[in-house]
Amino acid sequence: MPASIVLGAQWGDEGKGKLVDRLAGEVSWVVRFQGGNNAGHTVVLGDRVIKLHLLPSGITRKECNLVLGDGMVIDPWVLRQELDNWLQQTGEDPSQSRLFISERAHIILPYHRMLDSLDEKIGTTGRGIGPTYADKINRIGLRFGDLSEVIGDVDWAETVAQRMNSDLSAAGAEGRIEAAQLAQEVAWIHDTFGQTVANTGVMLDNALKLGENVLLEGAQGCLLDIDQGTYPFVTSSVTSRGNATHGAGIHPGHIEQVIGIVKAYTTRVGAGPMPSELFDSDGDHMTDVGHEFGTTTGRRRRCGWLDLVVLRHANRVNGFTSMAMTKLDVLGGIDPLKICVGYRLDGKEIHEMPASSAALARCEPILIEMPGFPPEPLEVWLDLAKKADEEGLGYSALPSAAQAYIRHVENLLGVPITSVGIGPDRDATIERAD
Ligand code: IMP
Repeated sequence: MPASIVLGAQWGDEGKGKLVDRLAGEVSWVVRFQGGNNAGHTVVLGDRVIKLHLLPSGITRKECNLVLGDGMVIDPWVLRQELDNWLQQTGEDPSQSRLFISERAHIILPYHRMLDSLDEKIGTTGRGIGPTYADKINRIGLRFGDLSEVIGDVDWAETVAQRMNSDLSAAGAEGRIEAAQLAQEVAWIHDTFGQTVANTGVMLDNALKLGENVLLEGAQGCLLDIDQGTYPFVTSSVTSRGNATHGAGIHPGHIEQVIGIVKAYTTRVGAGPMPSELFDSDGDHMTDVGHEFGTTTGRRRRCGWLDLVVLRHANRVNGFTSMAMTKLDVLGGIDPLKICVGYRLDGKEIHEMPASSAALARCEPILIEMPGFPPEPLEVWLDLAKKADEEGLGYSALPSAAQAYIRHVENLLGVPITSVGIGPDRDATIERAD
């Protein structure tokens, strides 16, 4: 059962890309199974910063195959741009060799972007994600595997453009879709990616049968899950373990480990409740030191204390076999540190998340205090990680207050934290030694 899953345990932006990039050295396949270019993963390799929205983070390992899986919604123009950027940086075009797009993945068209740009309530990324999933659920979406069926079909283009225009006008959008333009776009997508489209579920199943390792890379996080998140302030896909194999086209029995990625504090972009949110200098410290600005939209992320109610919820839904904590270094200089261990809702203490976002918005965090540890420059944290690795020191290389913070979270959740990130570089990570 050599498949593993990496998932965000909060509201996304936990630093999944960095871990996937590290783990990709041990696997033959990295697979995205949901979402689209609403995701933003940053991979730092020395002085090169690589921002990815669609391409799986395993792209940095040349021997790794990359799959955009069944459950995704894909903007072909963004994908072409991302591939061109990669080609410029490295001289390689993975779409000619090791990138495979599922024939079941849905296509984001300009119409979907136009509709999404009207959102004023959720604070979406505006990339057309929700409208594309809506078409999928309404069974009127366009999938990569169906492209060849509609190319050159004038009636199809006319009918679809007509429907799109009636939706756009009902929604109050200004733009309109021309049938001829739509037909040209569909032909371009087919010309550009036709060779890259494959039955990726079968490819992955065969690879697993041959004993190859597969990594399923989640996007967003548990609290943005359409079913399990802070509805309606969520994304439009199931971001959790239950959808990882399904969205990749393989069965759940293949899964060996499920790693939850937990940022050492909490962040959120877009609208919606966040009980442990900070509006003071500690929150500003997290934003500034942690460079908490969205990879996709550049928006300032809201920051707050680590929220154990959120993590307990994410662990119940996903059954993490281990967790990786990211960005612990960012907390250096905040003293005392606080952790949210429960909420007070309408005068009552609760320890589980209410389903209603209105109720969650009324929740006051119940905080415990822990001693802080001093700030250090990035080079000091990186040296500390290297020393810990060379001498097998594990977490004992960290300041004692940082060790206590990690232990406390582990104890409260009952899940081991097997690695801790202390800087953006691939090597700025300490593995648990005991
Ligand atoms: P959508 O996914 O663009 O529809 O946006 C829905 C909500 O999910 C908004 O609050 C977005 O800010 C949030 N969101 C979507 N993708 C990400 C992500 O990768 N990280 C953090 N938030 C995200």
